[in-house]
Amino acid sequence: MTMLDGRLQAAADFVTPGGAAVDVGTDHGYLPVYLVESGRVKRALAADINSQPLESARKNIAEAGLEDQIGVLQTDGLDGIDLEQFTDVILAGMGGMLIAEILERRMPLDGFNLILQPMTQAPFLRRWLCEKGFQILAETPAQAAGKVYAIINARYDGQMRECSELFAHVGKIPEKLRDPEKGTEALLYLRTLRHKLEIIALGMSQSERDPGGADRYRQLAEQIQKIEEGRE
Ligand SMILES: C[S@@+](CC[C@H](N)C(=O)[O-])C[C@H]1O[C@@H](n2cnc3c(N)ncnc32)[C@H](O)[C@@H]1O
Repeated sequence: MTMLDGRLQAAADFVTPGGAAVDVGTDHGYLPVYLVESGRVKRALAADINSQPLESARKNIAEAGLEDQIGVLQTDGLDGIDLEQFTDVILAGMGGMLIAEILERRMPLDGFNLILQPMTQAPFLRRWLCEKGFQILAETPAQAAGKVYAIINARYDGQMRECSELFAHVGKIPEKLRDPEKGTEALLYLRTLRHKLEIIALGMSQSERDPGGADRYRQLAEQIQKIEEGRE
């Protein structure tokens, strides 16, 4: 059985049991192989824009003997994919802006279970989801290779939502602070984020261009620290 790291396992845990999943930017194809091997989904599509990753995905799918259940497609994002055959769309390991661009081209994606894992620009992606009528249902923090990431589970319901600066940065991660399994990773996510914001604030306060901008980041860092302390 294929073993996933914490990040991809957290993405897999959001997938609809018994469903069918498209993994956009699949690279090695570990996720669709795991999803079908474990019986989580019946079928999957491993899609990627580049041919080299798809070769590696093809090899891993063949080694697992799953060619009948996992299709392979070279395409940009969701372009040309017949989405009616799927319940879940996964976009993991890409920048938040690229994830939003890919979703935007197939809006509204009504009825799909979306599993999104931005490597960077998570605040951009959360804001985009709120503004475009997607509800962020849940988020899980997960560690891989010494870093902690947020895995976002979202669904379109057509309702535009206000997205505060704080929510754009922390999303639903604070809800996991008291979770016995995920509490430590949630705390790590918030601490790492706060340190990043404190460094930005420090840099801005020393810069002549935007010394006032530092306050915004400092306030955000203080809000996050309060959330962290609320856990104790
Ligand atoms: C860092 S890998 C992530 C692999 C895997 N999803 C994971 O999370 O471990 C990013 C993959 O996205 C693919 N990619 C980048 N832009 C893409 C696009 N517009 N459409 C589809 N795939 C894309 C790249 O070729 C690469 O294989």
